[in-house]
Amino acid sequence: MADSLTIRRPDDWHVHLRDGAMLEGVVEHTARQFGRAIVMPNLSPPVTTTAAAQAYRARIMAALPPGTAFEPLMTAYLTDHTDPADLVRGKAEGVLTAAKLYPANATTNSAHGVSDIARLDPVFAAMEEARLVLCIHGEVTDPEIDVFDREAVFIARHLERVVRSFPGLKIVLEHLTTGEGVAFVESAGSNVAATITPQHLHLNRNAMLVGGIRPHAYCLPVAKREKHRLALRKAATSGSPKFFLGTDSAPHAKHDKESSCGCAGIFNAPFALESYLQVFEDEGALDRFEGFASLHGPAFYGLPVNEGLVTLVPVDHVVPDTIDAAGTSVVPFHAGETLRWRLASG
Ligand code: NCD
Ligand code: ZN
Repeated sequence: MADSLTIRRPDDWHVHLRDGAMLEGVVEHTARQFGRAIVMPNLSPPVTTTAAAQAYRARIMAALPPGTAFEPLMTAYLTDHTDPADLVRGKAEGVLTAAKLYPANATTNSAHGVSDIARLDPVFAAMEEARLVLCIHGEVTDPEIDVFDREAVFIARHLERVVRSFPGLKIVLEHLTTGEGVAFVESAGSNVAATITPQHLHLNRNAMLVGGIRPHAYCLPVAKREKHRLALRKAATSGSPKFFLGTDSAPHAKHDKESSCGCAGIFNAPFALESYLQVFEDEGALDRFEGFASLHGPAFYGLPVNEGLVTLVPVDHVVPDTIDAAGTSVVPFHAGETLRWRLASG
């Protein structure tokens, strides 16, 4: 049996904590596993300003169990009407860590997203100058583009130009799902990085569509072919500082996923580290887990690594079928499956 593994306390560089009762129900899972998290702004209505991000941060802090040491890192949602001066102020005041680009209608609560990325150039210029990180949901929403091609087309149509035009802008291509994405990030400068979710390391599109439609394997960007999953596993476990942990944990009520129009998003926060670690073990890369989970993200964002340590122990345990989130039943990633690692201390 493998030995236990102790690493620096990790961070989650992409999470949806929601708001209201759902926030109360889910935040403890992220706070138990991670020291910090980049909190997505796609509430309804979205968090589009520094003032809104500050208010949201206060609601997150109020929802944490007493005595929890967890730091939410806030983001602002870019729209066609974003005021660059507000972002610069938000960064200077220590409220904003990043701003998030959602192409309009790409995913949950993104109707307010950006309709023409080129028109955001003044915002990108201000972010480059202020050293505010740009997080990107990298999918086109053009109805003529097949849903499985949307990431690769986004890179070719938009991302290559933005990276070329703003060489000093730090960009995170989030929840990477394709070999094309991996190749792009690898070939770009050190100002371009990517997060990778646990689900995209475990699942290919067959997991969603074979033997019945599996709504709990559905998230955006959708899982792709097996060759892409393998490219992601290779990138995540390569030791490259360009790839780091971002769960994209995105809770939706069970009944909203098991519906004729099911919501996109996988709730992986309760056992995220365990899920990732299993992949690293299977790839023979346990020694690279700490870099991916705890070191590469802070280095990219220019933040110190966390002070504390966490230990994972090799213990089989079955993931519950559902988890109660302050009165809402949510199905966690790996529901009913046995995971081989367990977070022992935090
Ligand atoms: C996210 C959500 O539900 O907020 N869903 C998802 O499938 N990942 C939005 C997102 O990150 O695309
Ligand atoms: Zn997300």
